[in-house]
Amino acid sequence: MTHNTPVALVTGANQGIGLQISRELASNGFTVLVGSRNLERGESAAEEVEGDARAIQLDVTDHLSITAAAQRIRSEFGRLDVLVNNAAISNTRWEPGMSIEEYARTILPSVVSFDEMRAVWETNVFGPLAVFQAMVPMLREAPHANIVNVSSGAGSLTMNSDSANSHRPMYTPVYAGSKTGLNAMTLAMAIELEEEGIKVNAVDPGFTRTNLNKYAGTSTVEEGAREAVRLALIGPDGPTGTFSSVNGQVPW
Ligand code: NAI
Repeated sequence: MTHNTPVALVTGANQGIGLQISRELASNGFTVLVGSRNLERGESAAEEVEGDARAIQLDVTDHLSITAAAQRIRSEFGRLDVLVNNAAISNTRWEPGMSIEEYARTILPSVVSFDEMRAVWETNVFGPLAVFQAMVPMLREAPHANIVNVSSGAGSLTMNSDSANSHRPMYTPVYAGSKTGLNAMTLAMAIELEEEGIKVNAVDPGFTRTNLNKYAGTSTVEEGAREAVRLALIGPDGPTGTFSSVNGQVPW
C-alpha cells in the first residue's frame, strides 16, 4: 500500500532546527517522520507538530536502527519523497566550564583525539551516508525526491582559506572538518543521482540558537530551518549539487 501524501524523513528532529523543519514540512502537507535516537523524545516532539508527524527511532550511527527505520517506512508508508539529513553533534568532550577557545585548542590537528574525531565524523559524515544508502531505493521510486544535507559554513574550504576570516582558527578536524566531509558526500550523491532527477543540496542554517552551541546562536530556529525547507520543497526544475544559506550560495 502506498501512502497518499508525500513522506519526509528528518533525522535528529526531536529538537532544534530539525524539529522546526518537521513543523514546516508538515504544514506543507507532508507526513513527517520525526527521527530521534530516543523514541519517547521523538514522540513528544511529534506531538508538538501540527499536522501529520510521527516519531521514528533512528540513530544515524547504528546500522540496525537505520535498517529498521527503512523497513518501517517501506511497510507502513510504501514511499519516501524527502530526506533531510539534519542530525549532528559538535563534540563529545567539551567539558562544562570550558571556553570554546580552550576546547578548540584540544582539537588542533597536532593533538586531536582520534576518538573525538571518529565520534563526530561517525554522526556527521558516515551517518548521513548510511541513512542515504538505506533510503535511496525508496527515494528512487518517488515521483520526485529531494535530499537536503544540513551542513555549515564552518565547513567551507573557500571561506576558511581566506586569511581575513576571523572564524578561521575554528577550522579544525572535528566539527568543521566533518562538515567539509558532508559537503563532499553531498556533491558525490548529487552527481550519482543527477540523471535520475533526484536533487541533493547542502545548506548552512546560520548561527542558530540551539543546544548544539549551548543556545549562543543569534538566529531563531525558524530562520535556521528556512533554507533547508526551501530545498526540501523544490520541484523537478530546482537545483542540485548546491551549497546555500538564506543569503544565497555559500562557497564550497
Ligand atoms: P541540536 O543539537 O539541537 O540538534 C541536533 C540533533 O541531532 C538532536 O536532535 C540530536 O539528538 C540529534 N543527533 C545527534 N546525534 C544523533 C545520532 N547519532 N542519531 C540521530 N540523531 C542524532 O542542534 P541544531 O542546531 O538543531 O543542529 C541541526 C543541524 O544544523 C546540525 O546538522 C548542525 O550541524 C547544523 N548547524 C547548526 C548551526 C547552529 O548554529 N545551531 C550552525 C550550522 C549548522
